[in-house]
Amino acid sequence: MRAITYNSYGDIDKLQITELNSPKPGINDVIVKVIAISPNPVDLKKLEGGFKIITNVKKFPFIIGCDFSGEIIEVGKNVGAFKVGDKVFGMTDILFGGSGAEEIKVSQKYISLAPNNLELNYAAALPQVSNTSLLALRNIAKLRAGHKLLINGASGGVGSTALQIAKLYEADCVAITSSRNIDWIKDEFNPSKVIDYTKEDFTETDEKYDVVFDANGNRSYPEVEKILTANGIYVTTKNNVYTQIDFIKQFTKRKKARVVLSGKTSTSNLDLIRMWVEDGKLKPYIEKTFSLTEFKDAYQHLAKGRTRGKLVINME
Ligand SMILES: NC(=O)c1ccc[n+]([C@@H]2O[C@H](COP(=O)([O-])OP(=O)(O)OC[C@H]3O[C@@H](n4cnc5c(N)ncnc54)[C@H](OP(=O)(O)O)[C@@H]3O)[C@@H](O)[C@H]2O)c1
Repeated sequence: MRAITYNSYGDIDKLQITELNSPKPGINDVIVKVIAISPNPVDLKKLEGGFKIITNVKKFPFIIGCDFSGEIIEVGKNVGAFKVGDKVFGMTDILFGGSGAEEIKVSQKYISLAPNNLELNYAAALPQVSNTSLLALRNIAKLRAGHKLLINGASGGVGSTALQIAKLYEADCVAITSSRNIDWIKDEFNPSKVIDYTKEDFTETDEKYDVVFDANGNRSYPEVEKILTANGIYVTTKNNVYTQIDFIKQFTKRKKARVVLSGKTSTSNLDLIRMWVEDGKLKPYIEKTFSLTEFKDAYQHLAKGRTRGKLVINME
């Protein structure tokens, strides 16, 4: 079977299509015939060796990707909730897995049935960004109706999903984006306010927010602290030494800074995401779909950091 692999860390040119043996399921795994994958920035960080302190324990080649959708073609003997023929979506392990292959092995813990009202290839765009938004807003920020929420990076994969989840929690949402995405954000998500970051710094204001979700991860707790309410919380997607220092520094305060870590999903989170999609309350916004042979174009597009919503690579 074909897979998008790399044999050493580096840039997108390290990626190639290779022939690998089809995987065999462990007792708790399913084998999925992959219909589509959706690139995420973390795929590139792993490709560049950003996690090599951990990933070095595994031998090359690595398969790129973690998000996927497809159809189950084999199940391990302890798999009860899924059967051959089920159409599913989910995430392989970010560090040691890889979804960019025609067939993948994945634990039954990280998949769910795909939404029945969405083309199966588009379901690949949901898992990581929805899981991240859910963990950030529901689990970490404990978002509630009436909360004043600011989402930075609102037009990206995470931001465009977080905007929809914020509406489900009935938060009063302010979106940060650049000029070219202002009308799109207003038309599609109707937040109470949209701020153009190229014209205005959202931290220079007297407004106070219960939650600031830095989906883009380019700001910091010290910059955002002054616009948080007394019990406000800053949640960022950026996990680095500075955000960890912010986390430690604010222990003495009621205001909080947290990093969302969405390395793994769960069937229950994916079930909720599927339910929201089937109820017409959540959808992936796909900027562009690529074929398998165009996989480098897809990752180059993602690497520019300007994607509106998500990208999909069809694996068939
Ligand atoms: N910690 C975790 O578990 C976790 C999980 C998922 C993602 N992440 C991280 O979260 C970040 C966002 O992920 P993503 O999938 O949403 O990425 P993405 O889809 O590639 O984000 C692209 C978007 O970012 C916006 N953007 C670029 N510069 C910006 C700026 N200075 N201010 C505000 N928005 C800006 C762009 O809008 P404009 O073109 O309008 O600028 C574009 O729409 C990445 O760094 C990713 O690695 C972390």
